[in-house]
Amino acid sequence: MADYLIAPSILSADFARLGDDVERVLAAGADVVHFDVMDNHYVPNLTIGPMVCKALRNYGIKAPIDVHLMVKPVDRMIGDFIDAGASWITFHPEASEHIDRSLQMIRDGGCKSGLVFNPATPLHYLDYVMDKVDVILLMSVNPGFGGQTFIPSTLDKLKEAKARIDASGFDIRLEVDGGVGLKNIGEVAKAGADTFVAGSAIFNTPDYQKTINEMRSILAS
Ligand code: DX5
Ligand code: ZN
Repeated sequence: MADYLIAPSILSADFARLGDDVERVLAAGADVVHFDVMDNHYVPNLTIGPMVCKALRNYGIKAPIDVHLMVKPVDRMIGDFIDAGASWITFHPEASEHIDRSLQMIRDGGCKSGLVFNPATPLHYLDYVMDKVDVILLMSVNPGFGGQTFIPSTLDKLKEAKARIDASGFDIRLEVDGGVGLKNIGEVAKAGADTFVAGSAIFNTPDYQKTINEMRSILAS
């Protein structure tokens, strides 16, 4: 697996031609499909669920699918997404009554597990579960919508999360989500992120390959 992973958020894809659009972005060099699940309860928007994940698998999408659960309650959706072919499943700790159990359910289902932190959610939820997370996802916008502006305080939070990961000795990915694009991906990587969700910055450009190549050359510099 590449050191840096680019994970286009399909929230900004063309939902009327989703399979084709996901295939195109993967052919353009994306590593991971970021799949945003919103329930109009935990967040003020409504998107896609396990049936769409399963449909992408049936369509022939083989890349890892990174399911970002913005739902409350959490656990029912974990089982459904494991069955639907998810690869990674992350959830917001304040939306789960039993964080340790939810993380364990994800790993027991053969998926990579992770916690997601809103801009103002403290990292202390990690204190007793570092051995149970494969990915830490820091939101750099408030969740619910694509196309928002990156919140600068995320840079310090990334550094703090990276220090926690290094101190733990575990192999944990540090993912960032919201307002990431060509303008700031370099700075975000320097702060410690290794997995970059980008929705509008990729799907709102005419040439996905050109955009992803530009992201990679910034990351390589
Ligand atoms: C926001 C979602 C993001 C969103 C990112 O709640 O979790 O994944 O799609 O979109 P951009 O990259 O456009 O900010
Ligand atoms: Zn997301």
